[in-house]
Amino acid sequence: MIEGALQKRAEVQWQPTLIGCSERALQKNQRAAIVWFTGLPAAGKSTIANVVERKLHASGYHTMLLDGDNLRHGLNRDLGFSREDRVENIRRAGEIAKLMVEAGLITLCSFISPYHTERESVRRLVREGEFIEVFVDTPVEECVRRDPKGLYAKARAGLIKSFTGLDGEYEPPTQPEIHLRTLTQTPDDLADIVMANLASLGILR
Ligand SMILES: Nc1ncnc2c1ncn2[C@@H]1O[C@H](COP(=O)(O)OP(=O)(O)OP(=O)(O)O)[C@@H](O)[C@H]1O
Ligand SMILES: [Mg+2]
Repeated sequence: MIEGALQKRAEVQWQPTLIGCSERALQKNQRAAIVWFTGLPAAGKSTIANVVERKLHASGYHTMLLDGDNLRHGLNRDLGFSREDRVENIRRAGEIAKLMVEAGLITLCSFISPYHTERESVRRLVREGEFIEVFVDTPVEECVRRDPKGLYAKARAGLIKSFTGLDGEYEPPTQPEIHLRTLTQTPDDLADIVMANLASLGILR
């Protein structure tokens, strides 16, 4: 970090706000949380997160869905897929998700997020119990078969380097709050499992 930025950080103090996360969430009659979907490309993160959001929305919850692909069109458009850029991608996504939690929203996040350390960094941004890690567990062979964006095919043809699941590493969660196995159940069934878990974790009414 450049010297000026370091000095500036020392000078900038935290400005307390009179209304906080709990007041904002209470007004919506809900508890705010980050529901973080992680898994290989084509595992089903976006598909399941969207079904969960539709169900939450239908039940009157206020939600937001942050999708890695969409963030890369805007806020993270300057980032590539090197290890350093992937770390920064998740750092920014985590900070945005935290802001959404401060706004009182149930925030669904769909990011490959291959590194354990970065996912744990996001967990530490919010209060105990507000980060729900959802492991979308799909064997790589099945992801290669699904390949809805044709990216595995491109990576195998040598057109994409460090592609997660092939020549790029993925560190599976060791203790996810929710573990979804997508080979045996439909996205709708898996979304119901997420809903049931969110209820038992006290996020849903
Ligand atoms: N049980 C299942 N759960 C989720 N998706 C499934 C399931 N069975 C088949 N699919 C299909 O698998 C594909 C998953 O693609 P999706 O874009 O959701 O993956 P992703 O994890 O978001 O990938 P990426 O990291 O590239 O964004 C979709 O075409 C979906 O229809
Ligand atoms: Mg996706």
